[in-house]
Amino acid sequence: MLILGIESSCDETAAAVVRDGREVLSGVVATQIDMHKVYGGVVPEIASRRHVEAVCPLLTAALERAGVPLAEIDAVAVTFAPGLIGALLVGLNFAKGLAFAAGKPLVPVHHHRGHVAANYLAYPELEPPFLALVASGGHTLIVGVDGYTKYRLIGSTRDDAAGEAFDKVSRVLGMGYPGGKVIDELAANGDSGRYSLPRAKVANHPYDMSFSGLKTAMINLIHTAQQRGEELELPSLAASFQLAVCDEIVPRVNAAAMEYGYSKIVMAGGVAANSALRAAMIESCRSSGIELFLPPVSLCGDNAAMIACQGYYEYVGGGAAGMELNAFASLPADYTEIPKM
Ligand code: KG4
Ligand code: ZN
Repeated sequence: MLILGIESSCDETAAAVVRDGREVLSGVVATQIDMHKVYGGVVPEIASRRHVEAVCPLLTAALERAGVPLAEIDAVAVTFAPGLIGALLVGLNFAKGLAFAAGKPLVPVHHHRGHVAANYLAYPELEPPFLALVASGGHTLIVGVDGYTKYRLIGSTRDDAAGEAFDKVSRVLGMGYPGGKVIDELAANGDSGRYSLPRAKVANHPYDMSFSGLKTAMINLIHTAQQRGEELELPSLAASFQLAVCDEIVPRVNAAAMEYGYSKIVMAGGVAANSALRAAMIESCRSSGIELFLPPVSLCGDNAAMIACQGYYEYVGGGAAGMELNAFASLPADYTEIPKM
């Protein structure tokens, strides 16, 4: 079965063709990062406009590279939640028009489930159940994946996402957007014990996380140093920050897997590319004996192959939608029904 995937939830427009949920025939991504960089973050209206420009040529490129005419596509899968609403609406309406005109089923895909599905592309043997950490620019959550379309939310951030904290710290240091990769590289030669930063706990919710206190502590530390004219040792500051992020995430993911009885852990989302987080997860899973699945860095960020992949499982699970389908800026990954507007 051939699924065409369309993704436009944030600042990447993407299209892909995937066979049977596991084999990527083509995948093309147009990133808008250079356009948003000058503003230090994503400007929603610019994002929507760029999606409008990019989506048609990307569809053509994805079909051509796959060597598949539109007529042979079995279903059109599209990200419908969560994300920037204007950006989502562009991809969704495009997919709707395409599905309607070509007489194909329309399959809504939740962006976080898509991130998790990137691992099915990398690991042919991987099947639910497993525990997943989804860490992106907008969300950080721990979910039980009990079936391809059966999710349960175990913990999530109470405030900022991990990626948001990386982006903010990078901006305050004048190192640009997006910040994750920059901080990751800067931290490579740093001493993670050099600066002491806070770790948060959410009372009575052991698997919930918080990154805003850490973000504020970093901002204060940087501003205080600037006011006093003190030099900060930037690689060590970046490494100390990364360690604090890892300490917030890794023990919780491991403890949740133990408590809920999962023998496999899957990482997903842009922040899953972080080298310190990957190393810390490898270490903690080695000591707990839990099997760990890390997506290749090329599949951590937003792409449409992951959407087509999850789209396959949503479709075979009976998840096609009608033409009244709407987009949602926020919707939990463990939704069981698409809300009516
Ligand atoms: O999943 P994603 O591509 O888009 C969203 O769905 O948000 O995640 C983007 C986020 C950004 O905040 C970016 O700074 C972060 O992922 N990121 C990283 C790394 N690469 C990207 N964070 C930490 N370390 C990295 N190497
Ligand atoms: Zn994403």
